[in-house]
Amino acid sequence: MERIFYVNGEFVPADQAVVSAEDRGFNFGDGVYEVVHWYNYRPFLLEEHVERLIHSAQVIRIDLPWSKEELTEIALETAKRNNLKDDYIYMQISRGRAIRQHSFPKNVQPTLVMNPQPAAKPPEEVRQKGARVISIPDIRWLHCDIKALSALANILAKQQAKDHNVDDVLYDRAGVGVVEGGSSNIFYYKDGTLYTPPLSPYIFPGITRAKVIEIAGELDIPLGEKVFSLKEVLEADEVMLVSTGYEVLSVTEVNGLKIGNGVPGEIAKKLQDRYTEHVRKACYV
Ligand code: PDD
Repeated sequence: MERIFYVNGEFVPADQAVVSAEDRGFNFGDGVYEVVHWYNYRPFLLEEHVERLIHSAQVIRIDLPWSKEELTEIALETAKRNNLKDDYIYMQISRGRAIRQHSFPKNVQPTLVMNPQPAAKPPEEVRQKGARVISIPDIRWLHCDIKALSALANILAKQQAKDHNVDDVLYDRAGVGVVEGGSSNIFYYKDGTLYTPPLSPYIFPGITRAKVIEIAGELDIPLGEKVFSLKEVLEADEVMLVSTGYEVLSVTEVNGLKIGNGVPGEIAKKLQDRYTEHVRKACYV
């Protein structure tokens, strides 16, 4: 089936989905994006994603001509036209088309694109055995709390994982500690408490992170939000990466060293099972 894209007010086949070579998204990465998971033809946490898209745009001072309701409607319509079952809708907003100069152009209409994407689910083998990751220095900027288009550091990081034949990376920020996975949030479990870094400019406020915190509450798993080091991660009983695509993914090896006894742990399984229940309630009723 041919994929249908929404581009600036029109639905067009993928090969006709084009924006200007002078689009600031193309020239500068001047824009923001979101990734929403559809399950069983229905979106999961769409409202949260649309709100965050609007927030990211506000932070970089793009005046959106679309309301939350309009963005939601376009996302639903894009999914419908693609008969989207268990994949992503990718949403991207750039500041628009203008002659290339760094400061904001005047009277420019933002560019809005929405399109279907295959969901970035971990391979079944990684789900079963747990992910192997390496820690790398975090060379990203100080606005990791918005979903900026300009993701060069993330791309280089993810490629580094591939080059090292591992599943992902952990960003280790100098003077701060381990902040995130390559494109996911991190949790670890130690002596009965689940830990995750607090919200800050160094981490992305993941919607899955918020869901996992909610689920930990439901399951009476004590939660601590704190800054932590690579040493603490290596000494954890369990480590997990969470995101829209991963849901809750066990990490069983960091820098070649086993986490706990080297197999996915019980807490990760409980969190994932409850997450699946939330998805079922939202998308399968
Ligand atoms: N990435 N941290 C980073 C750096 C991310 O890029 C992501 C998501 C997350 C998790 O956010 P959420 O739970 O809202 O998906 C955390 C998306 C999926 C991506 O770039 O493809």
